[in-house]
Amino acid sequence: MTSAYVLNGPNLNLLGMREPLIYGKATLADVEHSCREVADELGWSLEFRQTNREGELVDWIQEAGEAQSAGEAVGVVLNAAAYTHTSIALHDAIAGSGARVIEVHISNVHRREPFRHLSYVSPVAAGIIVGLGVAGYPLALRALAA
Ligand code: DQA
Repeated sequence: MTSAYVLNGPNLNLLGMREPLIYGKATLADVEHSCREVADELGWSLEFRQTNREGELVDWIQEAGEAQSAGEAVGVVLNAAAYTHTSIALHDAIAGSGARVIEVHISNVHRREPFRHLSYVSPVAAGIIVGLGVAGYPLALRALAA
């Protein structure tokens, strides 16, 4: 069965409790549930993961790129959270693995602090969904199907 990856970076395990005025009240389990519904509809298995570690995200992007090259995966929905704004390693992992990545941010990072305006992911992303809340995740999965 073809798989899709949804990869979440640091502090997204706290979704629902963390700054709810910015990120809303949905938990990461709620996000996973909405992604599973879409994946089921599209006939995909879902690799839904979260980590607080940069290197683990790098490993998972490489894994997704390999699976994609083997025709076993459609790509990655990636909310790299704060690593978006700092990680050349993530940029290089996406470029080097060839993983097709849709970048997602729950909040509109462009309305926020200037340090959130730079993304190392965007130049190597196939597309970007920003500021639509957690609804961005299932939309990004549908974009992978398109
Ligand atoms: C975020 C935005 C990032 O700037 C922040 O560091 C996050 C979450 C978002 O989904 O809005 O942790 O990626």
